[in-house]
Formats: sequence, structure tokens, C-alpha cells
Amino acid sequence: MRILVTGARGQLGRELQRTLAEDDVLAVGHSEMNVTDRGKVMEVISDFEPEIVVHSAAYTNVDGCELNPDLAYQVNALGTQNVALAAAAVGAALVYISTDYVFDGQKGAPYLEFDDRAPINIYGHSKLAGERYVQMTLSRFYIVRTAWLYGEGTNFVRTILALADSRKELQAVTDEIGSPTYAMDLAEAIGELIRHPAYGVYHLTNEGNCSRHEFMSAICEAANKRVALIPVTAEEFLAKNPLPARRPKSSALRNFCASTSLGIKLRPWREALDAFIFSEELVRY
Ligand SMILES: NC(=O)c1ccc[n+]([C@@H]2O[C@H](COP(=O)([O-])OP(=O)(O)OC[C@H]3O[C@@H](n4cnc5c(N)ncnc54)[C@H](OP(=O)(O)O)[C@@H]3O)[C@@H](O)[C@H]2O)c1
Repeated sequence: MRILVTGARGQLGRELQRTLAEDDVLAVGHSEMNVTDRGKVMEVISDFEPEIVVHSAAYTNVDGCELNPDLAYQVNALGTQNVALAAAAVGAALVYISTDYVFDGQKGAPYLEFDDRAPINIYGHSKLAGERYVQMTLSRFYIVRTAWLYGEGTNFVRTILALADSRKELQAVTDEIGSPTYAMDLAEAIGELIRHPAYGVYHLTNEGNCSRHEFMSAICEAANKRVALIPVTAEEFLAKNPLPARRPKSSALRNFCASTSLGIKLRPWREALDAFIFSEELVRY
């Protein structure tokens, strides 16, 4: 398949290039194709004539989006509209990578693909606007929502590993729940999904969910770090470490559609985390 990938140097973009190595792939980063530049996006996509565009580029800094909403909407909303228009112009299908942060976190159970979206921060609003542009521009699209992504890049797992080396104790939030996801596993699932013309909305995360505290304790255990984790509520944590953007309390996602109708399912989050930490250790030694 001829596939164009945006966000080439992001966590997911890197893994997509590895997973799709047998396909005819053009992966473009920020410097080759700024998604806010409609003319450039049209030029790059019409020159390559892909059958599928996987749009993983985004302004992903959640607090940065809150402080700079214009940039968030330019990249995540209008940038996605540009990519969708260019895909439509060459007759390509589009995979748009979206987020658990389109939900408000109040459901009290993992979100299904059918649940109503109600973001509570600018990042979530801008990604939701991207979903809407995709839905109004194309008939052949996959909206893939994922969450708590880690891989080659800046992410929660690497931050905790670094902090565990420099601190004796860390505060760990017990009441923020999510679905940790290894970028390599997500890329493989996307690689399978695009072989099926079953367009629609999908939740692709590693199976299961956990609190930040459980995630941190699994990270430290897998990497053999001896740091004390002090359980705190999100409210207690934020009182001492205020952040610009609100986070949903429980934004765990349930993969209902891809697992039920296509048999596409990612391994349990704990297994994936162990594999990632093992590969990080191999790189280090
Ligand atoms: N990370 C998470 O926890 C998470 C959770 C849920 C959903 N997602 C979604 O999953 C997708 C992939 O996330 P990720 O973690 O791989 O993100 P990432 O590592 O932050 O990579 C995003 C890439 O987008 C590029 N980019 C930013 N602005 C751009 C622009 N104007 N034009 C072109 N490229 C631009 C960035 O390049 P520069 O660095 O050069 O700017 C970066 O390489 C995103 O759509 C994100 O919204 C992520």
C-alpha cells in the first residue's frame, strides 16, 4: 500500500515507519510538511498520491495547548482539516489519531467508541475539532483514539524513570485512571486496521487500565527502581504542583469495535510496559 505518515519523528510516527516497512511509505515531519500550511500539505500529498494517510502529527503538550490555544487549534483542528482536504483531493482514506482527552472523565467506567465526547481542556477541544473536520470532509476515515502513549520520545514512563534516579520518594496520584499504551503495539494495530475497509471510530490502547499510582509502581518494579511512592489524590497533588490544564479523572478507553468486529486487540498494558522497559535497558547497556 502507498501510505503517507505525518508526525514522522513523533513517538507513534517512528513506530509506524518500522511497522509499515513492507509498504511504500513516505513519512513527513514538521520541517518537511507543516500541517498548518495548506498549500504545502496539498503539494506533498498530491505529489505522493497515497492510498492512505496516517495523520499522527499533533501539538501534544497538554499544558502548552492550554497556554497557547491559538496554536492548539491551528495545528490540531485546522492542520487536520488541511490533511483531510488533501486526502480527499487524491481519493485517499485517512487515519486520524485522536485521544482519550475528548472525554470528560466522569463516566465512571471505560469509554466506548459510542460515548458522547465532552472535553475539559483545550488540547481535548482541539483534537475533537480535528475529529469533526475528518468526519465532515471524508467518507473513508478511521478515527483511532489512544491514551497515555509511551515509546521513543518524551513521555510519562521516561519521566518517572529519570525522577526515580534522582529522588527518594515520589507522589503518585491514585484517582486518575487511564489506559497506558506502547506506541509499538499501537502502530502494529493500526497496520492491521488499515487492511480492513471497515471505516469508523476505534479505541486502540493496551488492554486494561490503571491509576497513575499503579502505573508508576509497575514502571519502578519493571526497572528495579527503589523509590518510595506516596499515594495522593489528584486534588492533593495539584494543590502543591498546579498545572494549567485540567485532566479527566478517569479516561480509560475500552476497545470494543476493533476487538469485536476485526479481532484486533493489543496485549495487556503491564506486559507491554515490561517489554518497553526491557528494550530501554537493552539500549542503555
Ligand atoms: N502522547 C500521548 O500520550 C497521546 C495520548 C493520546 C493521543 N495521542 C495522539 O497520538 C498522536 C501521536 O502522539 P505522539 O505521542 O506520537 O506525539 P509526539 O511524540 O508529540 O509527536 C507529534 C509530532 O507532531 C509533530 N508536529 C507538531 N506540530 C506540527 C505541525 N504544525 N506540522 C507538522 N508536524 C507537527 C511534532 O514535531 P515537532 O516535535 O518537530 O514539533 C512531533 O514529531 C497525536 O495525534 C496525539 O494527539 C497522544
